[in-house]
Amino acid sequence: MQVLEAIRSRRAIHLGSYLDTPIAAEIVREVLDAGRWAPSGANNQPCHFVVVREEAARRWVIEHMLEVLRLSGQVGRPPYRESLRTYAEYLATQDPVPPPVMLITLAEQDKRETHVYNHGGLHIMAACAAIQNMMLAAWSFGLGSTWLTFYDDVRVKAHFAIPTELDVVGIVLLAYPRSVPRVPPSMYGFGFRVRRPLEEMVHEERFDEAKFAALRQRDPFLHWIPEERRARLVAEENQRAAAQRRAAGGSP
Ligand SMILES: Cc1cc2nc3c(=O)[nH]c(=O)nc-3n(C[C@H](O)[C@H](O)[C@H](O)COP(=O)(O)O)c2cc1C
Repeated sequence: MQVLEAIRSRRAIHLGSYLDTPIAAEIVREVLDAGRWAPSGANNQPCHFVVVREEAARRWVIEHMLEVLRLSGQVGRPPYRESLRTYAEYLATQDPVPPPVMLITLAEQDKRETHVYNHGGLHIMAACAAIQNMMLAAWSFGLGSTWLTFYDDVRVKAHFAIPTELDVVGIVLLAYPRSVPRVPPSMYGFGFRVRRPLEEMVHEERFDEAKFAALRQRDPFLHWIPEERRARLVAEENQRAAAQRRAAGGSP
C-alpha cells in the first residue's frame, strides 16, 4: 500500500466493529517495529509497548473504557458529553468483541526535553508519532486500529505494573474490522469521519486571525456555542456527512 493511500484510507475501527480473528504474531511484530522506527527528539527513543493478548486483561481494558465512557456521558465536557452518552447507550445494547491485541504505548517522562523548552513533553510527541506509524502499518496489513484514550492512567498503570515514571500515551487496539465501521449517527455530528477542508487549516506566511475567528464562530467542537445554535450546526453537519456518504456510494 502506498503511504498516501494508507494515510487517507485508514479509519478508526471502534468497539462494536471488531472481529476476534487472531492476528499472526509476525504481523504484530511488524506493527511494533513500525513504532520503533518513529522519530523522537535527539533520537532518545522514549517508547515502550506492553502487548496485551490475554483475554482477561483485554476484557478489563474494555470494561474500564466503558466505565470511563459512561462517566464522560454523564459529567464530561459538552458537546462531547451528549455524543458519548449516545455511544455508551449504543454499546450497552451490544456485546462488543474485544480486539485480540492491544498495545499500551508508554513514554519515559525523563526524556521529555532535549533543550531548554520542552513544548509540553517531547516524549509524548515521539509516542504519538509511534502510534501513528503503528496504526498505518496495521492498516497496510488490513488490520483496523483505534487509538484508545478512554482510561484512567493511574488504574491502567496499576493493572499492568507500569512504573509511575512512564506516561501512558494511548492504547492501540488492533483487530480485523467486521465491516465498514458502524458509528452511532449522533457521533457523525462532530465530524466523525469527515475532515475539515484544508483551506480552513492552512495559514499562508502568518497566522490568519480573521479566518480563525470566523471558523471559531461555527466550530461545533466549541463548548461555548449556545445549545440551540449547536443543535443546528450538528444537524447541518449530519446532512453534510450523509451527503458525502451517499456520494461515496455508502448508506446514508
Ligand atoms: C489522541 C486521540 C485520541 C483518541 N481516543 C479515542 C478513544 O478513546 N476511543 C475511540 O474509539 N477512538 C479514539 N480516537 C479515534 C478518533 O475518534 C478518530 O481518529 C477520529 O474520529 C477520526 O476518525 P478516523 O481516525 O477514522 O479518521 C482517538 C484519536 C486520537 C488521535
